[in-house]
Amino acid sequence: FSYLEKNTDIISTVEFNHTGELLATGDKGGRVVIFQREQESKNQVHRRGEYNVYSTFQSHEPEFDYLKSLEIEEKINKIRWLPQQNAAYFLLSTNDKTVKLWKVSERDKRPEGYNLKDEEGRLRDPATITTLRVPVLRPMDLMVEATPRRVFANAHTYHINSISVNSDYETYMSADDLRINLWNFEITNQSFNIVDIKPANMEELTEVITAAEFHPHHCNTFVYSSSKGTIRLCDMRASALCDRHTKFFEEPEDPSNRSFFSEIISSISDVKFSHSGRYIMTRDYLTVKVWDLNMENRPIETYQVHDYLRSKLCSLYENDCIFDKFECVWNGSDSVIMTGSYNNFFRMFDRNTKRDVTLEASRENSKPRAILKPRKVCVGGKRRKDEISVDSLDFSKKILHTAWHPSENIIAVAATNNLYIFQDKVN
Ligand SMILES: *[C@@H]1O[C@H](CO)[C@@H](O)[C@H](O)[C@H]1NC(C)=O
Ligand SMILES: *[C@@H]1O[C@H](CO)[C@@H](O)[C@H](O)[C@H]1NC(C)=O
Ligand SMILES: *[C@@H]1O[C@H](CO)[C@@H](O)[C@H](O)[C@H]1NC(C)=O
Ligand SMILES: *[C@@H]1O[C@H](CO)[C@@H](O)[C@H](O)[C@H]1NC(C)=O
Repeated sequence: FSYLEKNTDIISTVEFNHTGELLATGDKGGRVVIFQREQESKNQVHRRGEYNVYSTFQSHEPEFDYLKSLEIEEKINKIRWLPQQNAAYFLLSTNDKTVKLWKVSERDKRPEGYNLKDEEGRLRDPATITTLRVPVLRPMDLMVEATPRRVFANAHTYHINSISVNSDYETYMSADDLRINLWNFEITNQSFNIVDIKPANMEELTEVITAAEFHPHHCNTFVYSSSKGTIRLCDMRASALCDRHTKFFEEPEDPSNRSFFSEIISSISDVKFSHSGRYIMTRDYLTVKVWDLNMENRPIETYQVHDYLRSKLCSLYENDCIFDKFECVWNGSDSVIMTGSYNNFFRMFDRNTKRDVTLEASRENSKPRAILKPRKVCVGGKRRKDEISVDSLDFSKKILHTAWHPSENIIAVAATNNLYIFQDKVN
């Protein structure tokens, strides 16, 4: 992989559109930045498909909830693209409380020659108009405009952690800690509550929803994960309120590994259907697991992301890192899995060859178009020359958000406030 780096605010989400030509990031400041892949040109063969900024807009602003005396952060938690249906692009972005549907469109012509107003838009005195003219469209520099088309507000009491567009492309869901709502894209004043795990008495609360996603092809099916390390598959045809799951995925705990931290590290921070819809992948603090939809009692694959942290859980608890929410992604053919770690490291697991690699996204170790070298963390004992010891890992540099191009080997990795785009080496 070679790399390309973009500088922005602290990135909180990264998402390719369905063909990978556009890449959107959301940040802590409520901004959305869209990158577009440049068309290949014959005289610049080595500059294959670089991503350049296409549009930047402010999606969410900080707000204050006066009833609860609470600040509502503008931070973008998730972005999801809608498939393109006309010349414009549509995406959903959400902060903790409000989902917005944005339309991003291009303009390269401007109307000129109106009769009742001048070029600056000021009204002309009708008495001075003696002849009529036909307004014309004149070419101008390309402008990309983002306009909010719908605002889906006031439906979540808790923090929204996921949004997912249904394969019917008419509805989407939004999930918070205790509830999941189903929305129609056209209707903003009403949503249907499809999951509600809020106990009558909040003292009895033992579990929260951590992530949710629709099946890629079956519009009636979705999954959600929980802080107890379990996944529930629900079928909306069964009943309007999916309080009773269709399938329940859980791995029995290995009693020999039981510790004070077991419950915290088994909390699932991300859940993703494979493109095929056959598997689901979950990320917890130390591992990535792949589950077959037809086998509920254990995952078919478990990959250790950074098992060397098992001995460091105590200090990771003290500095709150143990609550970090790492995401995970599939490559386009579901054969490779990618997820993040600390020290700006990220990991890839090849499901067929069972090979894995640790790579580093950082300014220091590479220049544009440099080749990424695999990194190795050494656990105890002697440290070899190019290894890094567990004790010198930087826990403030974490890779929580990554994205994989839907059909090519191009990945986007968010390292705090830098976005790195790596792609297969060009021959
Ligand atoms: C993704 O974005 C590109 C714009 O560069 C567009 O041509 C394409 O249709 C989009 N794909 C989908 C499926 O929306
Ligand atoms: C939502 O708005 C529509 C159109 O303004 C209205 O007909 C409908 O009754 C509203 N629904 C609710 C639940 O307020
Ligand atoms: C128990 O811990 C070992 C390493 O200490 C790890 O390899 C194994 O996967 C763990 N078992 C489970 C079920 O998490
Ligand atoms: C997925 O990863 C494999 C192994 O690196 C690669 O051969 C394949 O091209 C990737 N598929 C896509 C669609 O990115």
